[in-house]
Amino acid sequence: KNSINIGLLGFGTIGTGVVRVLQKNADVIQQRLGAPVQLLKIADLDITTDRGVQVAPAILTTNVEEVISHPDIDLVIELIGGYEPAKSFLLKAIANGKHVVTANKALMAVHGQEIIAAANQAGVSVMFEAAVGGGIPVISPIKESLGANRFSSVLGILNGTCNYILTKMTDHGSEFAAVLKEAQQLGYAEADPTFDIEGVDTAHKIALLSSLCFGTRVDFNQVYIEGISNIDAVDISFAKQMGYKIKLLAIGKNHGDQIEVRVHPTMIPAEDQLAEVDGVFNAVRLTGDFVGPTLLYGSGAGMDPTASAVMGDVMAIGRDILCGARLRVPIMGCCEEAVQSLPI
Ligand code: HSE
Repeated sequence: KNSINIGLLGFGTIGTGVVRVLQKNADVIQQRLGAPVQLLKIADLDITTDRGVQVAPAILTTNVEEVISHPDIDLVIELIGGYEPAKSFLLKAIANGKHVVTANKALMAVHGQEIIAAANQAGVSVMFEAAVGGGIPVISPIKESLGANRFSSVLGILNGTCNYILTKMTDHGSEFAAVLKEAQQLGYAEADPTFDIEGVDTAHKIALLSSLCFGTRVDFNQVYIEGISNIDAVDISFAKQMGYKIKLLAIGKNHGDQIEVRVHPTMIPAEDQLAEVDGVFNAVRLTGDFVGPTLLYGSGAGMDPTASAVMGDVMAIGRDILCGARLRVPIMGCCEEAVQSLPI
């Protein structure tokens, strides 16, 4: 095999980022992977808007089938977002024997078990590093570099939009609505920004991280969720006077017999490293029994960082394809069969 052939579903902000990194860093990608990555097809409902990147018109299509059933495509990247039709497309791609990479946290948090089980059955890989923490490697460290640890907790600032809003309100006294608009223009916010500001996006992410860290299924509907829409300038200034910063914190704790997962605005002591995570930056603090507390930090949203994470997954699966390895499926307290048939 002399190239990894991919197809893209969704040509929005992150899809454009993927095209950018493929074009700008083709040499680095080929060098590290040992083969070029070729983008054969992009499907989107809108293929006429100028995305600021040049693509051959022949690769654009409004027909998803041309991507998920393309005989030469090894891997499908899903960047549509939301539950449907993204879920049906992904399941179809999997059934067609395509490996899949997605940035879709909503889908993976709520239907991850089903998707992983389908992938396991089809013998293909599913990766979703870009679903949590934008460009920060979070999922692969839990599975790999820190994989020998039992985790007692995972804490995070996991929504770039909220952190951007809270930072601007704290440092510049800006108005909530005006900063939200800015975050939307910068490409940080979800298509429906209520998911960001009401904490739902953060809850999707901490549900995924908790599943991965604690090896158990986290029922998304059981996660306590409170967003930042009720935070006023006065809350921020009182917190400041007392030596705290308000952050939207995601908390996952393993109590042995119970898992605690919640999302809410939290007063963090100003001297804590998490209080210093400002703007669109995200951070995740994992505490493992052997490694101790470990902080992962970087850009939590936006076109380029998220595209970087997507391509990292593409390259990981590409490496497996090139060396004939078997599937890469995450264990998130997934179904018995999936665990049993994982490669050792
Ligand atoms: N809307 C999300 C955020 C995008 O603001 O963090 C990255 O997942």
